[in-house]
Amino acid sequence: MAIGVFDSGVGGLSVHHALVRRLPTADFVYLADQAHTPYGGRSGEDIVNLTQAGCERLFDQGCSLVVLACNTAAAVALRRLQQTWLPTYRGAKARPLNILGIIVPTIEAATGLPWTHEPTQPVEKVEHVDVLGIFCTPATAASRVYEIEIDKRSGDVAVFSEACPTLARQIEAGAGEEELRAAVEAHVASLSRRIGRPPDRAILGCTHYEIIAALFRAALPVGTPLIHQPDATAEAIALYLRRHAQYDPGSSGGRLFLTTGAAGLQNGLVEQFWGSPVSFDAA
Ligand code: DGL
Repeated sequence: MAIGVFDSGVGGLSVHHALVRRLPTADFVYLADQAHTPYGGRSGEDIVNLTQAGCERLFDQGCSLVVLACNTAAAVALRRLQQTWLPTYRGAKARPLNILGIIVPTIEAATGLPWTHEPTQPVEKVEHVDVLGIFCTPATAASRVYEIEIDKRSGDVAVFSEACPTLARQIEAGAGEEELRAAVEAHVASLSRRIGRPPDRAILGCTHYEIIAALFRAALPVGTPLIHQPDATAEAIALYLRRHAQYDPGSSGGRLFLTTGAAGLQNGLVEQFWGSPVSFDAA
């Protein structure tokens, strides 16, 4: 058995990296849906169908647990798949299978509260709020998942999302540093204009952006804390596995990297992030 990690492309490698550090002996299968990347400008229906196909592929590959290392898929498709498709599919396969996302652990890290804390009464709002900027895809921004879930739990955090329509595609294509720097600076400036000042904290709410986190750090005021989604996710998955022994993560440290797109070496940005060349096999 193994843990599946799914993204539209190379972005989920940032989560995979943290997962491997946290669970070094587990077996991992990474699937990049590069035939259909990017997801961020697609319709909800498309995102649900593509995410379902990716999960199915990973379950067929022997995974018991699939981590959606993609904010867009987690924001748009996760709940729907958990409530509709997965129960029937799991029944047909007659083995424990589950899909988890990356937004819940990120919100827990942002609020400092466990997910189960969800209050029954509206939380009391305070005047001086901590402004949290979320850089994400248009589909994640349109879902308003971060705004809704953080607002429910916390009275002193105001969330502003900045949709970055082309950034995941540029990272997927291995764009040059100057082009990426200009795009990141424009998004930080646009978000800061809407807030009236730069955010107090930020989340790179698209896993692709973690690959160019240094450019976000450089564009934001010095020392702006970035909530680290990959580490928050890795910690949450490790805890989940400890509590749910039925999901066997394997123990031989296997690493398989698959793509629905063209097999082979991934671009230089990925190599720089990973610290060595990364090559995907055909799914
Ligand atoms: N890396 C993904 C995310 O976290 C998807 C980006 C895309 O395909 O647009 O949102």
